[in-house]
Amino acid sequence: MSYRWNTNLYQQKHAFVYQFGADLIKWLNPQAGEDILDLGCGTGELTEQIAQSGAKVIGIDQSEEMIQQAQRQHPERLFQVQNATQLSNLPQFDAIFSNATLHWILDARTVLKQIYQHLKPDGGRLVAELGGRGNIAQIITALNQQRVQLGYSAISSDKQWFFPSVGEYSSLLESEGFEVRQTAYFHRDTSLAEDGIKHWTKMFAGRWLADVDIEHQDNLLEATQESLRSALWRADYKRLRVLAVKV
Ligand code: BEZ
Repeated sequence: MSYRWNTNLYQQKHAFVYQFGADLIKWLNPQAGEDILDLGCGTGELTEQIAQSGAKVIGIDQSEEMIQQAQRQHPERLFQVQNATQLSNLPQFDAIFSNATLHWILDARTVLKQIYQHLKPDGGRLVAELGGRGNIAQIITALNQQRVQLGYSAISSDKQWFFPSVGEYSSLLESEGFEVRQTAYFHRDTSLAEDGIKHWTKMFAGRWLADVDIEHQDNLLEATQESLRSALWRADYKRLRVLAVKV
């Protein structure tokens, strides 16, 4: 999947993505001197926080725009454009950290194989948070209802994201050789600012707009946002966290 990211819209309206991610760093518990990969680092805020522990961190992201912005903001850190399903020229790490990225990669098995190969044997750890089963179902249902009203077909979120259950993801991890040490699944309704559903859709769900005539796009966004008003314009995030170890 190649996606162009608007880093300004990301940082101005969706900073909660990395602000919430800070809590995941507690699961990572980075130690000075450890080699850590931040997979899907975006604009590098969490890479920087991990580096504050004294760990040696590399941040990678598939988006050139994100990596350029990360490098501008944190010139002393190391960032690279990389595709997580084809990591190249990277060593093995003590830990691989990933916040809000793995659900974008539909080929979950391939990315887990890559992660496994790039962890040090006997204890290299994966600490990740991704969208879990049922993530953003309310928003996608509302977008699809408005698409159908305008004469467009509904789009299944399975075509865009992978939101596994705890059981499904644990099985996948185990089948790739990981020992699953800790999991969590929780609802995190996330308040969005004014016009938040519109911004959120433009930022993250462009596929639901891509085939809609330009003059219908505002109607679709407005109607979707209105229909979610009773949900107080919260994004119905569901999170899945894992700590899994290469044994
Ligand atoms: C998430 O972080 O769960 C997410 C964000 C944007 C689109 C889909 C999922």
